[in-house]
Amino acid sequence: MRFARLLVIGLPLSAGFSVRPLVSKRPPYHPAPLSMSEQQQDAPKTYPPPNAVPDGMKTYEAMHKQSLEEPDTFWGDAARSTLKWFRDFDRVSQGGFDTGDVAWFTGGQLNACYNCIDQHLPQRAKQVAILHEGDEPGVVTKITYEDLLGQVCRMANAMKELGVKKGDFVTLYMPMVPEAAVAMLACARLGAPHSVVFAGFSAEALRDRIVDANSKWVFTTDEGRRGGKTLHLKSIVDKAVEDADCVEKVLVITATGAKVPMGKRDVQMSEMLPRMRPYCPCETMDSEDLLFILYTSGSTGRPKGVAHTTAGYLLYTGMTTKHAFGLEEGDVFACVADVGWITGHSYIVYGPLVNGATSLMFESTPMYPNHGRYWDVVQRHKVTQFYTAPTAIRALMSCGPEIISDYDLSSLRVLGSVGEPINPEAWRWYNEHVGKGKCHIVDTFWQTETGGHVMLPLANVTPTKPGSCSFPFFGIEPAVLNAQTGEEVTGNDVEGVLAFKRPWPSLARTVYGDHKRYMDVYLNPYKGYYFTGDGCHRDSDGFYWITGRVDDVLNVSGHRIGTAEVESALVLHPAVSEAAVVGFPDPIKGQAICCYVTFVSGYTESPELLKELVKQVATHIGPFARPGMIVGTPGLPKTRSGKIMRRILRKIAEGEADKLGDTSTLADPSIVEGLVEKANALL
Ligand code: PRX
Repeated sequence: MRFARLLVIGLPLSAGFSVRPLVSKRPPYHPAPLSMSEQQQDAPKTYPPPNAVPDGMKTYEAMHKQSLEEPDTFWGDAARSTLKWFRDFDRVSQGGFDTGDVAWFTGGQLNACYNCIDQHLPQRAKQVAILHEGDEPGVVTKITYEDLLGQVCRMANAMKELGVKKGDFVTLYMPMVPEAAVAMLACARLGAPHSVVFAGFSAEALRDRIVDANSKWVFTTDEGRRGGKTLHLKSIVDKAVEDADCVEKVLVITATGAKVPMGKRDVQMSEMLPRMRPYCPCETMDSEDLLFILYTSGSTGRPKGVAHTTAGYLLYTGMTTKHAFGLEEGDVFACVADVGWITGHSYIVYGPLVNGATSLMFESTPMYPNHGRYWDVVQRHKVTQFYTAPTAIRALMSCGPEIISDYDLSSLRVLGSVGEPINPEAWRWYNEHVGKGKCHIVDTFWQTETGGHVMLPLANVTPTKPGSCSFPFFGIEPAVLNAQTGEEVTGNDVEGVLAFKRPWPSLARTVYGDHKRYMDVYLNPYKGYYFTGDGCHRDSDGFYWITGRVDDVLNVSGHRIGTAEVESALVLHPAVSEAAVVGFPDPIKGQAICCYVTFVSGYTESPELLKELVKQVATHIGPFARPGMIVGTPGLPKTRSGKIMRRILRKIAEGEADKLGDTSTLADPSIVEGLVEKANALL
């Protein structure tokens, strides 16, 4: 079904957080867009792990068992062997899901930046730590561990001179330049939690995040480049900080060298950094001190500042990087995500660097200058592990595999997938055309809140099925729950919602400034469990299959977007009276956004108005949140008690108006009839 499908235009200007109230009860359950049966019917085959480690599964099972039966021994040993401590910890873990007072490695002291850089200097001073591939092919910067220490220290000393102290929040709004990682690590060195805001967010979305964190410092660049286009980051920051009185300094890093207006609060870092000493001592941090917050969308309310602490996060991301991707000495590890999302935090910066690996940072897009770009990068840098999202794989699939054979991809051993369910067809394409049947495909399920992978195959160990994220990582005890009753569903070949039965080291500890919300969203819906918000199926062999969100969170091209945020943006437009937003399947993006809107009297639906509304959302949240469909309606389908029946709106958007189910509780059935008629006319 098509309705008015609209092209996207416009850059972000402003945005507001959602106004839908918070609820403390279970979120509404609806079956996920990609149903288990769709995934399953297509994927009967099990693939053995390539280059299998002898008895790998037996070892995994034994280690997993130990991690659950003797967690203190398991994690205590792991923490002492993986991390460098300034002071050993007294207790491995404490607290639980009842009040969310989870803490790991208490009494221990360390510094995340020290663990990512300084500890490696005796063996790896001259090894490349960050290998940056710029937007233009072949524009490469190699930063060794030794150089990285110098750059991070200069940055940290500059920040100190500008007044940043331990415990202060620093916001980053940066393109994918090496300085983004440098600034994050400098924050970690000083014990100043960073809050990285994806540089695709609008000025107003950025402002809200700056204000929520009460951040006095904001890092940005003059401009950014992506896919041959210019991102006007400094001017977006200028707009964002106009009404953000908390901001004292904007630290402007030179990326393109463009002349940008500099105001009273702006600091030109290219003038300041050369003056700085290239060594800066590390702050001593407690294990549970905040390392960073990262805003993410939920089904209701404003985006949440998900809070991660130092030791548990670092240990867990380090271990998952090593085991998921089978890291070896000399590897070039390429996670082509953006540092503005959790994937970039965990698998570009902290996970690879704590392992002393070479981490590739990619500034461009898979399509620039053509759809062979990823493979060009793999060939030139002899990438050994490549980690991307299904949406990118599907986009490349649609261009055909021919271009891949122009490149030598023989360095690759492991191919990762993250961010959304991968359909078996895309999985097999990735395996056959990119991996040539010789690479291990690791579909990693996790979330901003989990800090690192929770369900995943381990490289060279776990057999795989296309579309399944296979089994839990060490310390993870999954449970499939009946969504309505909350009862655990035992045995195999079962379906329900995915939850975890015990805390693990990198679990987010709270929502910044709102622990009640943390409890209500994650720990209260099913007492005794951490609730993921995802549907899942455990098949007859015990493999887990994620079927997608069961709440009002959308996943568009791997970007997590709350329907409530989109609705809030729409109702800020003078023409819109009410809005209801749902997702619908999209062959490339996984999901796209459909908005149903009612108009204020005096406004009538027109192509121009619909375009304006698309722009409204892009402007208020960011271009990545642009709706794929906007549907004008005289009213929204509601129950007699006034609740919007999203289930019906979802069915109509999915082109399944003939399968609306029970409509007997509708207050005004004529509204649905009108919407269905409109759908039919447009099909
Ligand atoms: O719905 C799941 C989906 O992405 C959500 C988490 O989004 P975010 O916090 O932005 O983190 C994305 C990167 C980890 C999950 O609730 N998701 C993530 N990975 C997968 C996935 N769905 C299926 N399979 C995955 N491998």
